[in-house]
Amino acid sequence: MPSHDSVKQNGAGHGGQARTGALPGPLRHFATLLDELRSRDILDMQQVGRLLVELAADEEFFAPLIDQIPAAAPGDRWLIRPDRGPRLVLVHRPEGLMGYTHSHRCWVGIAPVRGVETHQRWEAVRHDRSRADLRLADERALVRGDVATLVPPRDVHNHGHVIGSGPSPYSLILLGDDMLLFDREEYDPEQGTWQALAPGDPGRPNR
Ligand SMILES: [Fe+2]
Repeated sequence: MPSHDSVKQNGAGHGGQARTGALPGPLRHFATLLDELRSRDILDMQQVGRLLVELAADEEFFAPLIDQIPAAAPGDRWLIRPDRGPRLVLVHRPEGLMGYTHSHRCWVGIAPVRGVETHQRWEAVRHDRSRADLRLADERALVRGDVATLVPPRDVHNHGHVIGSGPSPYSLILLGDDMLLFDREEYDPEQGTWQALAPGDPGRPNR
């Protein structure tokens, strides 16, 4: 049984190698090392997190990409996006904008490149009639050098910017697969409710 920060690999988990040859150098290097970690029986999410932090430290590579995402609005830029398997996106949320609470049904890592990303992980128990018990399990103000990783079924989180925490974040989000292929859930911790997200439904964008 894998621990909470590791993933037992199976056939589906090994799918979708990125076509690394077409990637810029830092992303190619990252994808190669990630493929090495994924070739083992157990995927160690601490090592995945360290890889993501190392990539996030490459200010020279990310500065021009960040410049292309205006600070005042939500924005993202896909960096690695194969049909299946791990994919990487640079995501920006402006001042005071926090995402909805959601599950992934795949592993995920998040590491800021710039700014402060407030990350909340929730323990969620779903009941009938859309009721849910939600308990805040962890809250962290992530900066560059930090990483949060999640493994299903403990993969319910939300993240974004909290006023007063510091500059708004530009963060790397690494997903183990295309989460839009899966049945997922969206939660409202304040109301104590949940709703199903069918495959293809990204859910509501931001609170
Ligand atoms: Fe997420």
